[in-house]
Parts: sequence; structure tokens; C-alpha cells
Amino acid sequence: MNIIFFGPPGAGKGTQAEIVSKRLQIPTISTGAMLREAIKKETASGLSAKSYVDSGALVPNEVVIGILKDRLAEEDCKNGFILDGFPRTIPQAEALEKMDIRIDVVLSLEVSDETIVERLSGRRLCASCGNPYHVKYNPPKDGSRCDKCGGELIVRRDDDPAVVKSRLDTYHEETEPLKAYYESKGILKKIIGQEEVADTTKLTLAALGIE
Ligand code: AP5
Repeated sequence: MNIIFFGPPGAGKGTQAEIVSKRLQIPTISTGAMLREAIKKETASGLSAKSYVDSGALVPNEVVIGILKDRLAEEDCKNGFILDGFPRTIPQAEALEKMDIRIDVVLSLEVSDETIVERLSGRRLCASCGNPYHVKYNPPKDGSRCDKCGGELIVRRDDDPAVVKSRLDTYHEETEPLKAYYESKGILKKIIGQEEVADTTKLTLAALGIE
């Protein structure tokens, strides 16, 4: 199954994608995580993406599409995949179609802006594997290290409140129109993402028919 997790920054896309990825044994592809890795390694695409990511703007389509195309060509995507954070613009969605990639379902996590601000102010991320946590809603078992790999937990630079505001504006202006795009194709499913992680997971699995 080829799935897109769609929604504003901090909606819970990464959290739910991780759960579904384990259930279906298919990889999650997060363009945000790939960009952060490229920035850390100072690759050419990382260097060109850095100022956009730091300010909460979208990285130019050609850079993100190039990164994604290479990743989707890898062997582990042959039996399905989850896209987290891609597409974010109509040209990105069209690029997927040009690659002959069939999307089965787009799961749109519906969360208010107020909740987003609260969630992102408490988010922590594993510096090694990128797994997301929340100090209040989804804390790591031992309080300070990643449950999955024991890595150090850090605060993402773009979770600074001013940058969160800018990311939300970018989402409403440039990404939200994609909902109508996928609705018109009959593959958009809206999920209430406002409640606890477990509630959203229940709704997500039901929408995928894998309760
Ligand atoms: P990206 O990394 O994709 O960030 P994002 O879309 O802004 O989403 P987040 O990762 O912040 O949130 P999420 O929805 O995954 O939520 P999470 O599960 O972590 O992109 C970063 C940047 O890269 C962009 O700003 C842009 O510059 C660039 N970029 C990436 N893709 C691009 C593209 N396609 N085109 C152009 N530029 C691109 O949850 C958030 C927090 O809430 C966590 O702490 C979690 O534990 C907690 N939480 C989750 N669910 C719940 C719940 N139900 N209740 C309570 N807490 C919850």
C-alpha cells in the first residue's frame, strides 16, 4: 500500500507513520528527516535547503523532488511506502504522478493551530534515529533517551515559536490546497488528530482497514 500522511506541522504525521510502518512492514519516507540529514552532512542539497528549513519556508520543489525520486527507487519501497511531509505543493503532487507512482490513500490529520503550537513546544527528537517524543503526551520510557536506540533527545531548531508560526502560515498558504486536489481524486480521508496519540492511531488504522 502507498500511503501519504498529510497535515500541518506537528499534526502527528511522523508519530502515526512510525506506528503504521511497523504494522505494515513498509518504510516511512520523511522529506523533512532526509533534509535534516543532508543539512547535517553538509551535502549540496543540504546546503541549498538549510536557510529554507531554518526559516520555516518550503525548500524549492526541484531539490525535494530530486531527493524523493532517488529514495523511491530503492528496493525497500517496492512493496509499499509511507510518505510523511511530501507532497507539499501541487507541482510536487504532479511530480509523483509523472514518476508513475500510484497513491492508494491520503490520510489528512486534522488538528487546530492552537494544539500545534502546544505540541511543537514540547517536542523532543532522537538525535540518532529521528523518532519523535513529547515531554507531556509521549515521553520516552526513561525520561531522557530514545526508546528505540538510546540516542540523545534534542529540540528541533525549527520548533522555535517564531518559526512554528511561519511554518503554519506556509502550510495554510501553500500546502493546504492539496487537500482539494486529493479530494477530487477520491483518495483523501480526514482523520481527527486532535485527541491522544492512541485515539488517532485507532482512527488511522480503521481508515486503512487494518484495525
Ligand atoms: P518536516 O520534518 O516534514 O516537518 P513538518 O511537516 O513541519 O512536520 P513535523 O515533523 O514538525 O510534525 P509531524 O506532523 O510529523 O508531528 P510529530 O509526529 O513529530 O519538515 C521540516 C521542514 O523541511 C519544512 O518546514 C520545510 O522547510 C522542509 N520540507 C520538508 N518536506 C518538504 C517538502 N515536501 N517540500 C518542501 N520543503 C519541505 O508530532 C509533533 C509532536 O506532537 C511530537 O512531540 C509528538 O510526540 C506529539 N504528538 C503527536 N501526536 C500527538 C497527539 N495525538 N497528542 C499529543 N501529542 C502528540
